[in-house]
Amino acid sequence: MSSQNTTETTPSQQQQHTSSSSESQNFEPENTHDYKHKWYWDQRFEKEENYDWLGTFQQWKPYLEPYLTAHHDSKQQVKILIVGCGNSTLSEDMYKDGYHSITNMDYSHTVIEKMKIKHPNMEWVEMDMMDMKGFADGTFDIVLDKGTMDALVVDAGDPWDPEPHVREQTCKMCCEVYRILKPSGRFLQISFSQPHFRKIFLNPKKQDGETNLLDWSYKSIHVDEIGFGYPLFILQKPPFTSLPSTTH
Ligand SMILES: C[S@@+](CC[C@H](N)C(=O)[O-])C[C@H]1O[C@@H](n2cnc3c(N)ncnc32)[C@H](O)[C@@H]1O
Repeated sequence: MSSQNTTETTPSQQQQHTSSSSESQNFEPENTHDYKHKWYWDQRFEKEENYDWLGTFQQWKPYLEPYLTAHHDSKQQVKILIVGCGNSTLSEDMYKDGYHSITNMDYSHTVIEKMKIKHPNMEWVEMDMMDMKGFADGTFDIVLDKGTMDALVVDAGDPWDPEPHVREQTCKMCCEVYRILKPSGRFLQISFSQPHFRKIFLNPKKQDGETNLLDWSYKSIHVDEIGFGYPLFILQKPPFTSLPSTTH
């Protein structure tokens, strides 16, 4: 998660700043690339009860809220998917705040089983974000990612020219997110990455290398007040869309 840019903070630095109930234990991997593997997360979630990457809902609420509710009168109606939920307090806090239609997904069997028991009032689904065929097209108003694509790009190499296999994986994730969003739905992403480097992944190109594969709009906001300062990316699907016909 830190390999994209040398000026960025490392996940270990972040852990010192945001650790919660599992403070006394060290869950840092031996190698940053371990963040890419399911076995790392399964092992970590066996022991760790709760951890929030990149801040909590209370911190992000003022920045997220305008994008969470814009198309709805009531928070309860907004259909939200949290991708790579981990054991974060994000969905629990959002639920307490009135968002009652939340689905959480993660590819770690361990964390999904634990979270199902802790919070039976929400949906918990074990799934890979690069293949979300368990969700029908146009299911969600909002897909929310806090630090999840960051785990996918730890082996991206040169941030100016990321490894093709990583571009392919982030493209798969974005195409799946796009597919499961309703028209006018939004993908909200909180990340360690600087916008210039993240835009490459959020706006994958068609084979011509020029045209965007996905016709969602893109914007980023920099939030200085949280941690060392992080961006929030907002991608919005147009009101009426057909699914992309070309893959990356
Ligand atoms: C850095 S943690 C972020 C956790 C949580 N979103 C938070 O805010 O604290 C990355 C999470 O993404 C999950 N993850 C990584 N790759 C995934 C994939 N391909 N599909 C689904 N979940 C994935 C991991 O299991 C882990 O829970």
